[in-house]
Amino acid sequence: MKFPVLMLGLALAIGAVNAVVAADEPIVIKFSHVVAADTPKGKAADFFAQRAAELTGDKVKVEVYPNSALYKDKEELEALQIGAVQMLAPSLAKFGPLGVKDFEAFDLPYIFTDYDDLHRVTQGEIGTAILSKLEPKGIVGLAFWDNGFKSFSANFPIKAPEDMKGKKFRIQSSKVLEEQMRALRALPQVMAFSEVYQALDTGVVDGTENPPSNMYTQKMHEVQTNLTLTQHGYLGYAVIVNKKFWAGLPEDVRGQLEQAMKESTKLANRIAKEENDQALAGIEASGKTKVYTPTDEEKLAFKRKLVPVHDKMASRVGKELIQSIYQATGFKPDSL
Ligand code: LMR
Repeated sequence: MKFPVLMLGLALAIGAVNAVVAADEPIVIKFSHVVAADTPKGKAADFFAQRAAELTGDKVKVEVYPNSALYKDKEELEALQIGAVQMLAPSLAKFGPLGVKDFEAFDLPYIFTDYDDLHRVTQGEIGTAILSKLEPKGIVGLAFWDNGFKSFSANFPIKAPEDMKGKKFRIQSSKVLEEQMRALRALPQVMAFSEVYQALDTGVVDGTENPPSNMYTQKMHEVQTNLTLTQHGYLGYAVIVNKKFWAGLPEDVRGQLEQAMKESTKLANRIAKEENDQALAGIEASGKTKVYTPTDEEKLAFKRKLVPVHDKMASRVGKELIQSIYQATGFKPDSL
């Protein structure tokens, strides 16, 4: 009888040692994203990792994996849900396939005139309500991070909507963006971000849309000839975590991470415009892509084609949601 007791004691002792080791080991948060480290999102993610370590006294280690190093667009959302990574910041255009279509409201062309407009939505009640729709999917939405306003680039000049007719344009996985391209009679091609450079280079697609920071850091301007500053839509992010993981954190640690997230959100939203302005200057200086600023009249022609997309997509995105955004920003679709 002595032997089993001894074994039990030994097992308990080993268990205790393991528990001590486990308690000493930091909690690891794998934070995967698809853009370069040198972008608004990349910088905010790195800053979050730094502040998380500082505020938790190294109890939490955030490992940031930029540039689709771990997962591409679609896989990263699946990886989050099964807990293979704990944190992501996908663009708002990528939540439709999860079944949360409200996020596609952010893709509606010309719905936001500037960052102030946008913050009235993301930093207010509408933003909070949209994030809460992720909970039934096992995801907690922590914050909105800015990037910037998208423009069309292509391997041909674009001055009018008609120029895009019949041309293949890469888009993110959003039904609103699909409709946006159809409204211009272009051919939308959904593609992961990591594949865009090569698709532009080899002519698999003729053009794309992105804010300057994404174009420049992926060197897309080296494989495009023209960029027209249509600034027709917004691209930004929701920072999200696996709900089970988040709920399982010690309360004090979760509070410290919330603080780190607050600070990182401030940073992201403070640097986004400047990063995009600098990237645009870099594209211009490269001499590889010709940058064109459309006249007011030319811009209006794009608006007239694209704003009807709001109505067309209302049944998908939500009529009430669109109306509440109009109310928050003062946007008047009929004023065109
Ligand atoms: C894209 O796919 O074009 C963007 O969503 C990439 C990003 O995360 O900014």
